[in-house]
Amino acid sequence: MTIMLPGIRACVFDAYGTLFDYASAAASCRDVLGDKHGILTAMWREKQLQYSWLRTLQGRHADFWQVTGDALDFTLETLGIADDMLRNRLMNLYLTLEAFPEVPAVLERLKAAGLKTAILSNGSPEMLDAIVGNAGIGDLLDAVLSVEAVGVYKTHPKVYQLAVDRLGVAAEATAFQSSNAWDAYGASAFGMRVVWCNRYGQHPERLPGRPDREITSLAELPALVGA
Ligand code: LAC
Repeated sequence: MTIMLPGIRACVFDAYGTLFDYASAAASCRDVLGDKHGILTAMWREKQLQYSWLRTLQGRHADFWQVTGDALDFTLETLGIADDMLRNRLMNLYLTLEAFPEVPAVLERLKAAGLKTAILSNGSPEMLDAIVGNAGIGDLLDAVLSVEAVGVYKTHPKVYQLAVDRLGVAAEATAFQSSNAWDAYGASAFGMRVVWCNRYGQHPERLPGRPDREITSLAELPALVGA
């Protein structure tokens, strides 16, 4: 049974892993990577997130393009791959990551119901412009918000506050969707209503916050917010 989240006026989405499939970059390089593409994706993502958290902790922000490149360099070296062409190809593919198939129709339904829609992401404005443009979903979003506006990464509360300020919708009337459990818990601890899109079968975090709903595809979202 679907138990709706009442009083939602805005739906805010994480980008990487939630709207866009970060695994699609290495998967498109199977010709060079063979079955190493899976381990490369996992290690690259883990390192990218660690660097984002550590830089915020140290007060030494660098944008997500640099962090993503640094994490890729670490990963390639760890896997014993020295290939500049592959490195450039993977970084360029990060600008054209595939959107998950249900994304355009879900955004259309939310907009048609009069809800505000936005992305709130660690990605730099340039990275987000590129993937949003490539997926052709720019017209379905009221805002594309990058942490560059606040100079810290998720899960710093300043990041979630940015969405509240820019959309003019209170945290408790905002549904935040993320497939990253730690991000879902962070937004919940901040005070947003949270729909954890658990695409990856993750286990609950032992962190402050608690997602309000759990789904496995964003296709389940409109019914939860009355769209
Ligand atoms: C983002 C990463 C955390 O888009 O997925 O913010």
